[in-house]
Amino acid sequence: MKEIKLRIKVFGDSALRKKSVPVEKITEEHRRILSSMANLMYSSSGVGLAAPQVGINECMIVVDIGEGLYKLINPQIIRRQGRQVLEEGCLSVPGISIKVKRAAKVTVKALDEYGKPVEINAEKLLACVFQHEIDHIKGKLIVDYASLFDRIKIKKKLAELKKRAEDEKLSQPERESSKLQL
Ligand code: NI
Repeated sequence: MKEIKLRIKVFGDSALRKKSVPVEKITEEHRRILSSMANLMYSSSGVGLAAPQVGINECMIVVDIGEGLYKLINPQIIRRQGRQVLEEGCLSVPGISIKVKRAAKVTVKALDEYGKPVEINAEKLLACVFQHEIDHIKGKLIVDYASLFDRIKIKKKLAELKKRAEDEKLSQPERESSKLQL
């Protein structure tokens, strides 16, 4: 399978704030993107990655907390139970971690890369990662969960990231985004 070169977008990039559209017809291109997303997640030592993080606003995520790889299309949470608070980081918001309150158990409904419906029951870290990645496809980031105190703490760092995102945009015009157009 031919590798698609993807890069992680950082805070300040507009793709991270857009609501992703559901995939209507799964193609070979989607499978190639999912495979490249998985490789990028592993090489970045992440446990999850969502398509908007590589500038693609389609509902696709990859997750692997060390218990096997999930490549999911159009994922949705259909059940939530309990509460947990974990300190989360995000590849798109490097250098920042935020305590996020989430459901302790979730059931995720999605399609696999060939369009087969799947349902996954997840708890603890896996449940947290699914919720984090599904937030990404809604344009939501961990910084949105920041307490007032957190917000003061991370303000400077966020401004730096935003500046970096703007600089990157200037140094690489349309080329990259048009290549990833589907
Ligand atoms: Ni993230």
